[in-house]
Amino acid sequence: MQLSLTLPGSRGVCMLLLLSNLLFWENVACKPTGLVSTEDLYNRVVEQSHTTYYLASDVYQEFDLKFFKRSWFTYRVPSLCHTASIHTPASREEVHETKTEDLLKTIINISHAWEEPLKHLISAVDVLPGASDKMVKSASAVKDKNHVLLEGLKTILSRSQTEVEENAYPAWSGLTDLKSSDEDTHLFAVYSLCRCLKRDAHKIDTYLKVLRCREIFNNECF
Ligand SMILES: *[C@@H]1O[C@H](CO)[C@@H](O)[C@H](O)[C@H]1NC(C)=O
Repeated sequence: MQLSLTLPGSRGVCMLLLLSNLLFWENVACKPTGLVSTEDLYNRVVEQSHTTYYLASDVYQEFDLKFFKRSWFTYRVPSLCHTASIHTPASREEVHETKTEDLLKTIINISHAWEEPLKHLISAVDVLPGASDKMVKSASAVKDKNHVLLEGLKTILSRSQTEVEENAYPAWSGLTDLKSSDEDTHLFAVYSLCRCLKRDAHKIDTYLKVLRCREIFNNECF
């Protein structure tokens, strides 16, 4: 579903938000004056990305502990993450040299690219024999938080630009393997998703912390 958060105070947006349960951003669009401070928005997205990273790490860790097979690496080549085509700054210097809008777009791209695979990941974790309740809940929370994060990021980007572009996002092509009846193939596909998810959640969290520091604290927050 496409939500526009660029029209503060619009009744339509408020209705949509309420209907879609995105209460997290409710105040953003429904306050009479319409404007939550940019500082507040950054604090909220960083809170989301921080928690998302920890939840994604929990999921990865439990998978690693209970299901990972060392033998995989003798005959399986870990594939590139589906978000690998999205260029991301590799070093701290490169992050600092990247314009805020460009970095936001990159983060939005990554976050968007996870919407679809996360749905499949939670279904897979849900039926993983031996997965703890905590793991199932964490995976599900990552999916929800990623969505909330995405809407928040679009709100922030819409403040620096008039429009949030809607382009193509890298597709994930692991569904066949994830649904494979061959247990090893299936588990390896779950593993690949967990690994990429943790990696991308870490990137997003790191970039957003840099951006908050830059935009809110004038780079003086260390
Ligand atoms: C996301 O990244 C891919 C790969 O670089 C690119 O083709 C696509 O245009 C990007 N999408 C957006 C919305 O920037």
